[in-house]
Amino acid sequence: MTPSPEPLLSVRDLEVTFSPRKRLFRERVELRAVDGVSFDLTEGETLGLVGESGCGKSTTARGLMRLVEPSGGSVRLEGRELLGLPAKELRSARRDIQMVFQDPYSSLDPSMLVRDSIGEPLDVHVKLGRTERVERVAELLRRVGLPPEYMTRYPHEFSGGQRQRLTIARAIAADPKILVLDEAVSALDVSTQNQVIGLLEELSAQIGLTYLFIAHDLSVVRHISDRVAVMYLGQIVEHGEAARVFDAPAHPYTEALLSAVPVPSPKTQRSRERIVLSGDPPDPSRVPPGCRFHTRCTYAMDVCRTEVPPLTPAQGSGEVACHLHTTGPRLAGASVRTLATRSEVPA
Ligand SMILES: Nc1ncnc2c1ncn2[C@@H]1O[C@H](COP(=O)(O)OP(=O)(O)O)[C@@H](O)[C@H]1O
Ligand code: SF4
Ligand SMILES: [Mg+2]
Repeated sequence: MTPSPEPLLSVRDLEVTFSPRKRLFRERVELRAVDGVSFDLTEGETLGLVGESGCGKSTTARGLMRLVEPSGGSVRLEGRELLGLPAKELRSARRDIQMVFQDPYSSLDPSMLVRDSIGEPLDVHVKLGRTERVERVAELLRRVGLPPEYMTRYPHEFSGGQRQRLTIARAIAADPKILVLDEAVSALDVSTQNQVIGLLEELSAQIGLTYLFIAHDLSVVRHISDRVAVMYLGQIVEHGEAARVFDAPAHPYTEALLSAVPVPSPKTQRSRERIVLSGDPPDPSRVPPGCRFHTRCTYAMDVCRTEVPPLTPAQGSGEVACHLHTTGPRLAGASVRTLATRSEVPA
């Protein structure tokens, strides 16, 4: 058997802790926004990271790039540990991982010509002569589907979708290996979203980019992801190949998230509506004991309130952290939807 290739990026037990003040003059509380997150990114693949707002997706991304300093864990880029790396070496490693955010203005300076916004990473990393720089910017604009003449315009002259194309052009300017897209298409309408996702797929095929694609909306992640990881209150509760996670969700939280995604058939839609995600996630500074999802889970059993469920293999691919698979109905990695057709649905 040939050994599997070393992952491009390997994140292990990543922890990011904040200590905000609860109220003025009150003592600080400890908030573990990312609590032991592990995943690999293999070259050329797209990992979708999903979960409700506040579950720690952005902090995971910021932590692995050390835009916020993790309190524990390991982040290896092509085998090189990034946590603890001195500032100078970190800068060169950061060239390989670029981020695209929801709001294009966070990376496009409104007062700067497109030419200079896109050219800036080139100035930092690739020193080019004047003519070469203009040529390179023109090529980047073409690559993201925009005419090179647009380089003498300002960001406000573009539509939301076009601005996101500009942000992508800037992000790929210095030839990174990985793009971290944090809700990069979330603010766009569905048809523009699809166009930008199409562009990302083309870029991945043309220049072999690898993506960490973050979104709170599962329907957005579905088409672009090879694998999907589902986060709840700072932890990954299920991961696996995208088709398996969408067709046979093994975790009740994944099932609940999916039931909120509209499906074309009204009959299927009705049968899914019985799983309702009620209320907001608990305060992350006061994580419930046992399974963190037990306060909202339709299937919660006694064991769920005291014991933390470990990650166990899910049927087909990936892993799931839920007692339904090891105790109770013993789903053993099967889809949680099979419970609906079995008699031993827990009370
Ligand atoms: N700089 C910060 N200081 C204190 N708390 C933070 C900070 N950034 C994020 N958080 C908290 O960390 C948790 C995770 O946030 P975030 O990673 O932004 O979630 P997501 O991207 O999934 O919406 C939230 O409870 C959020 O309030
Ligand atoms: S461990 Fe229990 S509470 Fe948690 S998701 Fe599974 S059934 Fe629900
Ligand atoms: Mg976020």
